[in-house]
Amino acid sequence: MRRERLRRDPVLYEVYLRSFADSNGDGIGDLAGLTSRLDHLVDLGVDGLWLTPVFRSPQFDFGYDVSDYLDIHVEYGSMPDMDALIDAAHTRGLAVILDVIIGHTSIEHFWFREHPDRYIWADQIPNNWLSVFGGSAWRHDEEAGRYYYHRFYPEQPNLNWGNPEVRRAVHEILGFWTGRGVDGFRLDSLDGIAVDPGLQDEPLADPSALRGRERDPWAQYWSLQHVHTCNLPQVLTELKEIATAFPDAALVVEADLPNEQLLPYMRLADCSFAFDFIRAPLDGVALARVIDGAGLAGRGNLAWALSNHDQPRMVSRWGRDLAGVAAVLLLSLPGWSFIYQGDEIGMVDGPGGPDLRDRSGRDAVRHPMQWNRSGGFTTGTPWLPFIDPEVCNVEDQRGAAGSTLEQYRTLIRLRRELRGPVRIVAAEPGFLAFRRGGHTISLNLGDEDHELGPGQLVYMTGRVEPGRLGPRSAVVQVADPDSTGGQPSER
Ligand code: NOJ
Ligand code: CA
Repeated sequence: MRRERLRRDPVLYEVYLRSFADSNGDGIGDLAGLTSRLDHLVDLGVDGLWLTPVFRSPQFDFGYDVSDYLDIHVEYGSMPDMDALIDAAHTRGLAVILDVIIGHTSIEHFWFREHPDRYIWADQIPNNWLSVFGGSAWRHDEEAGRYYYHRFYPEQPNLNWGNPEVRRAVHEILGFWTGRGVDGFRLDSLDGIAVDPGLQDEPLADPSALRGRERDPWAQYWSLQHVHTCNLPQVLTELKEIATAFPDAALVVEADLPNEQLLPYMRLADCSFAFDFIRAPLDGVALARVIDGAGLAGRGNLAWALSNHDQPRMVSRWGRDLAGVAAVLLLSLPGWSFIYQGDEIGMVDGPGGPDLRDRSGRDAVRHPMQWNRSGGFTTGTPWLPFIDPEVCNVEDQRGAAGSTLEQYRTLIRLRRELRGPVRIVAAEPGFLAFRRGGHTISLNLGDEDHELGPGQLVYMTGRVEPGRLGPRSAVVQVADPDSTGGQPSER
């Protein structure tokens, strides 16, 4: 089923369900709201959607803490709503990639009490392991009188993949959802599903490990090398088991590892997120290294994203005047490109701090989608306030020449014509150019004009003059048959 809907180099749209569209005025996005807005995705021209968790959950981590994988969280709707969504998406040719969390459950999942051997326990705090969200990864459970391991919030106890029952139970869940027609899965935090059964201490990381994570609220976590809690050989064994058991399901891996370590995941799955890319500084040399430093981009299954529901938004990181350049980059790389909802209209980070909704400070990137000047997300009070719908919304941008939304639409169409692996042809601190077959993509990230080789312009954003590319501007060119030079130059 997946291969029909997901074309070569697909574009996926990340729907953060809680903030996408509310159908019943309770201020919380839901499945019926999403279904009613699917045509926005069709207009954009994407191949499918990554749907953030829909399962029953006490929402300590907004759905990434699942208390029942076979039911829908009541605020998001019902199983018939989910079936209707899958059906409506398929009718429009859109694939549905379901976010599944197989490394941990909610502490409220019945397994935690009825099957404690599916979790990881110790009588005392056994080691220095840290939670991604800060502090020790071990929490005392009064009822059991023991400590359990939680890689994320204490309300998210980790599953014990050393117990084969866990594999059986997880496969049952995946089978339930493929049976309901989903096209594939995003495997949440996959690299952390297996841990060292000896529970050994993790070594200190080199301070360079924190580079690029300056704005990361989880800096403490990266002070250790996670050699006993991440990327263990068993993770790949389990991924292989899943790929073998569900050959028709598209598998999108979330493994927050350096690009160099992603190859084994890319071999087994359909794609794996390039976290180095989302954290890359705005520098042509660094971007070139991230894009093809490990030679992986040629495989066509790295997954590129410049924003998501955990990271600062691309426009806030790079600056509004580079939004167009960022879109060209994101949508012209070979592989899977993911657009986070709202980026296609240039949404920025909103206010957000640890005491609002998410204890890790991710509210800033989760404000509701801005459909029109008054918001259009809900008829009630949104669970997080709007940021700036009066100046940034879908309705005003639709059909408006030069709007961010129209740029995304055009670039997604153009993407279909790009072929072949990426070949970097110029990388300087303020400039990056690469080829894809007969196309050359040039990005001027800096404040000065940059020389531009010949070639017919098929797309531009910013200022382009013969032979010159203006600051914060980007172009896509094809070899111009009429020009004397023929091929665009390779600088
Ligand atoms: C990654 C998800 O993207 C994030 O939102 C979540 O908090 C963690 N995994 C834990 O499930
Ligand atoms: Ca609702």
